[in-house]
Amino acid sequence: MRARQPRIHGCRCGWSVCGCSAAGSLPAGLGTVNCDPVIILFFADVVGKPGREALIERLPGLREQFHADVVVANGENVTEGRGIKPAHAEALLTAGVDVITTGNHIWKLRETYRYLDQQERILRPYNFLKSNPGRGLTVVESAAGRLGVINLCGSLYLCPARSPFEAVTEALEHLHGLRNILVDFHAEATSEKVAMGWFLAGQVSAVIGTHTHVRTADACVLPGGTAYITDAGMCGSRDSVIGVKKDLVLERFLTQLPVRFEVAEGDVWLEGVVIELGSEGRAVRIEPFEIAAS
Ligand SMILES: [Fe+2]
Ligand SMILES: [Fe+2]
Repeated sequence: MRARQPRIHGCRCGWSVCGCSAAGSLPAGLGTVNCDPVIILFFADVVGKPGREALIERLPGLREQFHADVVVANGENVTEGRGIKPAHAEALLTAGVDVITTGNHIWKLRETYRYLDQQERILRPYNFLKSNPGRGLTVVESAAGRLGVINLCGSLYLCPARSPFEAVTEALEHLHGLRNILVDFHAEATSEKVAMGWFLAGQVSAVIGTHTHVRTADACVLPGGTAYITDAGMCGSRDSVIGVKKDLVLERFLTQLPVRFEVAEGDVWLEGVVIELGSEGRAVRIEPFEIAAS
């Protein structure tokens, strides 16, 4: 269990969700402040060595800055953009990530299969075959309470074994009684992600979209207290096409011939969302962030 960071009221952390402002008074419109909220930091798809090293380097400071109780990161692209090998997953967990979610790239590295069975803090989508290695949900303990995390894969263009809507209903039965629940919905189609947000509104604390690597401008709290964003973005190079060297992607589009992709390196940013949960696991605020790696 991780030691909880003390809350410093009236601090200058720069994020309004902690209930402070530069003058130490409540931001306009905030109303009553939950004295003991749960703060979740979610990092969008971490791409290759640039994204991985930036997250490892910056995470301890960011945990403190945001008063984060739990950190979740999508790691499906951590190892050269395709999958995540155990050593890289362990490095993220050691740096302060509490739960690693993944997606359609999780099966790219066979060495990860056994690791998925052994490490409870890394997930593959819940709606893959039940016979597949690993698990699709977990519960992480923190000083702020327990957080359930469910990883799902969209059915449009990605073809998981089972409907994410049917599967998440089953997953929630396993988490019955838990108030704080975050869902990483790793999906291609915006329509499917928006639909999942409405499907789970009032049932979970947060539905966070991943996979497209392009952050959307629709972060909100849905009725019933469910934080939502269609896509949280990417942790990686912006001098790229969604994390891949742009010249290689252009070559593929222009020639329509196979091209081996490589991870881009320049202009690295960390993107994601920070979420505040109030009573009964209901989200009261979600704010996207973008942080330059250097
Ligand atoms: Fe991805
Ligand atoms: Fe993906």
